[in-house]
Amino acid sequence: MNSFLGPFRDISPIPFESIWESPSNIAFVKYWGKKGHQIPANPSLSMALSECKTTTKTIFAPADELRVSLNLEGQNNDRFAKKIQIYLESLVVELPWVLNLSVVIETSNTFPHGAGIASSASGLSAFALTLTDYLYFLKSDASENIFFQRASYLSRIASGSACRSVFGGYSCWGDSELSKTTNEYAIPLEVHSELSSLNDTVLVISGTEKNVSSRTGHERMNDHFFAESRFTQAKSNFNRCVSTLRSGDVEGLGIILEAEALSLHAMMLTSPNPYMLLKPKTLSAIEAVWDFRRQTKIPLYFSLDAGPNLHLIYPDSHKHKIDQFITSELSHLSEKIIFDRTGNGPRKC
Ligand code: PMV
Repeated sequence: MNSFLGPFRDISPIPFESIWESPSNIAFVKYWGKKGHQIPANPSLSMALSECKTTTKTIFAPADELRVSLNLEGQNNDRFAKKIQIYLESLVVELPWVLNLSVVIETSNTFPHGAGIASSASGLSAFALTLTDYLYFLKSDASENIFFQRASYLSRIASGSACRSVFGGYSCWGDSELSKTTNEYAIPLEVHSELSSLNDTVLVISGTEKNVSSRTGHERMNDHFFAESRFTQAKSNFNRCVSTLRSGDVEGLGIILEAEALSLHAMMLTSPNPYMLLKPKTLSAIEAVWDFRRQTKIPLYFSLDAGPNLHLIYPDSHKHKIDQFITSELSHLSEKIIFDRTGNGPRKC
């Protein structure tokens, strides 16, 4: 029996409601490829965002059968309700009583859907936090000091990268040489004070929903010619990323950030069924960032999620100059610019 959910197996649902706010995150070392049920092929590391977050209210009540309704930004959304229904059904071995629940969800994001910011990480961690809160309400003697580990575990089952959103600052997920990391849930990572708060300005180059989902992308790593090399590279980048974050080496960190972003997209371009999520304007923006860095020696770096939009990562020390550069040289390449930074993690509302 799973030790995280074991204590909650034999309980009877009673009415409860809970509201949580949870952030999105940007992976500095990417999770791309998985084994079994949401077990990552390599360790990953991310930074929680501050402004880009989801707020979710969930009302749980006893019912004859599992029923889920979901309202996103004031509109019923049957597709997302179905996803939550399938997710809850996947917990039935550990929590058989979920089949006797009515679950009513109201959720909203501070950022536009399809903006290159992982709404699945914020959305599914926010729901998992309301569910964890419910478990603790049903069994009040559950150990408080592993609340966020449990929430991270439950987030991971819903969407891998969501498990890293339950902590503020930086978090790591996946077996690694670092002590205490595990494939089951994420853990927070302490970093050097110089890097404890970084800017992440998102250039939204295209807000159109991508035509190949991350789920399909992970699947395409199963028979990818470079899969094993990529997992080895990610493990090495993970170790290097942890040591640059701990030592406050912004240049070293920036090199890894960009290598990871490009490697993620290289996997898409070289998969057995190749595809490309980068757009011509993404490449123009990358060239402009590289030119700016060469000419000014100012530490401005980029990352990419599974989409065309560029995350510009930089310390506060050069914020004024970099913000000016972004506004004057990059805004013509983007539909929208979102100025975000390292966040403090989720909170109960
Ligand atoms: O959590 P998923 O299954 O949506 O996969 C996320 C994958 C990336 O966002 C591309 C990388 C990551 O580690 O967040």
